[in-house]
Amino acid sequence: MKGLILVGGYGTRLRPLTLTTPKPLVEFGNRPMILHQIEALANAGVTDIVLAVNYRPEVMVETLKKYEQEYGVSITFSVETEPLGTAGPLKLAEEVLKKDASPFFVLNSDVICDYPFKELADFHKAHGGKGTIVATKVDEPSKYGVIVHDLTTENLIDRFVEKPVEFVGNRINAGLYILNPEVIDLIELKPTSIEKETFPILVENKQLYSFDLEGYWMDVGQPKDFLAGSSLYLNSLSKKSPQKLVKDSEVDYEVVGNVLVDASAKINKGAKIGPDVVIGPNVVVGEGARITKSVVLKNSHIKEHALVKSTIVGWNCTVGKWARTDGVTVMGDDVAIKDEVYVNGGKVLPHKTIGANVETESIIM
Ligand code: GDD
Ligand code: MG
Repeated sequence: MKGLILVGGYGTRLRPLTLTTPKPLVEFGNRPMILHQIEALANAGVTDIVLAVNYRPEVMVETLKKYEQEYGVSITFSVETEPLGTAGPLKLAEEVLKKDASPFFVLNSDVICDYPFKELADFHKAHGGKGTIVATKVDEPSKYGVIVHDLTTENLIDRFVEKPVEFVGNRINAGLYILNPEVIDLIELKPTSIEKETFPILVENKQLYSFDLEGYWMDVGQPKDFLAGSSLYLNSLSKKSPQKLVKDSEVDYEVVGNVLVDASAKINKGAKIGPDVVIGPNVVVGEGARITKSVVLKNSHIKEHALVKSTIVGWNCTVGKWARTDGVTVMGDDVAIKDEVYVNGGKVLPHKTIGANVETESIIM
């Protein structure tokens, strides 16, 4: 089988992390976001994966090529000279996606869940339509594409409304599809939105169905959702692979709730970690430090008695002694927060040093 991952866009909503690393390579649960998807596709029997890219492909090629062997897949990069939106990239990759008559998967690169690809393929074959969208329920549907159903035929989509201004329902497009190759014939090679242009045609022709997702789902393309998504992911790990999480009885620091720590991290005695914390490779956490609902990326140092809460600490950062961060603070690469400084809701650009309190949400450049 075949799959295409939409990896374009500039990831602006996940700045300042995406100023130095393309969004799909930002570590989620200590692995590049996109690896979760590549692995799930490979597990469902996909052998050809196209990454549709329009921004800095070099870094991605370098990082991802090495996973071809590990997962037994062929990864090709389809590079756009201008952003082709969410449908144009399918046309550009036509050669791979149409190489046989089997349907192909399409994924938005920023969604996390327990990807149900096998079940999705079975469901798709059974109904006989040209496309199936994975659907999930959310409280705030206006940020997403909303699926409205035909009342007579179960799971046949009646209307698809991208980012509705008025409430039409709360079952939304989870950003995962399976489509028959002939759907590509509906798309021209130019910037095109699959949500606004292609889905309405399929709906009109009564060819688009939805498949209900079980379990957690999150679009982790913005900091608040990235942290919420991490909590959901850790909760799912605690049920499926609890051995991957830290047990309080096995370490000499204190662990509360779900905590994932890379084996190379060094957490000192007297630190208290959790709930909902991910600690990356080579991270050092000083004595008496307290970390909750946060993600700390590679090579960062949380010094003694610092309090890190609702924060994404980027790569190579330092949080000083007795410093405090909170309110969805995001630190870009190589940021330092000085001792005793308080940062609330700061988005700190790479290579900055913060020496004075930041009391309200702001961008620090
Ligand atoms: N290759 C390529 N080229 N990819 C692109 C481009 C482009 O020009 N523009 C966007 N993408 C990729 C993004 O990287 C992302 O993986 C995906 O397409 C969707 O774009 P987003 O910018 O993340 O869209 P969204 O989150 O506002 O809405 C989409 O996702 C929701 C679920 O999270 C829509 O598909 C909604 O209908 C859906 O509910
Ligand atoms: Mg998104």
